[in-house]
Amino acid sequence: SDLRIGYLVGSISTDSINRRLAAALQQLAPAGVRLVEIGIKDLPFYSLDAEQDFPAAARQFKQAITDADGILIVTPEYSRSIPGVLKNALDWAARPYGENAFAGQPVALAGTSPSPIGTATAQQHLRAILVHFDALVLGQPELFLQDTGAIANDGSVTDEQTRGLLEDFLETFAAFVRTQRAAADAPQA
Ligand code: FNR
Repeated sequence: SDLRIGYLVGSISTDSINRRLAAALQQLAPAGVRLVEIGIKDLPFYSLDAEQDFPAAARQFKQAITDADGILIVTPEYSRSIPGVLKNALDWAARPYGENAFAGQPVALAGTSPSPIGTATAQQHLRAILVHFDALVLGQPELFLQDTGAIANDGSVTDEQTRGLLEDFLETFAAFVRTQRAAADAPQA
């Protein structure tokens, strides 16, 4: 059956190059794979106080993560780490204690920046957080893309080499999600 991949964009900027990368990935998704955005901008700042009455936006956010077959995180790098808006969303996903929506979820990471090592350092931090969440994080291929204008505003990719990279990434992640899901569904010996 079709795979439903939920994706998070770690930027709330209007002209986000990472949103553009996410749009490109959405358009290049292989047959039988659908990429659907899970928004983060309506989440309030996380506080332990809010757990007394877990906000509806956070409950819906967690449910969307749980319902997806796999999660793709497309994020900028801020100060050699992930942006606060993304960390805020991840903190909501992890709470309350013992109810982490990422546990057992297949996850892949991608990002773009004007820098040639664009987002590699942010992804290392993100990987550490997700391992702590007990998510199943795809190792390879890593997708760090220097923004050279190869992706148009509408997400179309004119450059063949870039398109190939994105297609390979999506194919590998889809196979990874199917393998992890099959393993989770298999009867225990
Ligand atoms: C940046 N930028 C940046 N780039 C990078 O490669 N490494 C970094 O550590 C940082 N740090 C950083 C901090 C802050 C506060 C800002 C605003 C920007 C540049 C960043 O890659 C660039 O602004 C991208 O366009 C951000 O991604 P979106 O929002 O366009 O998707």
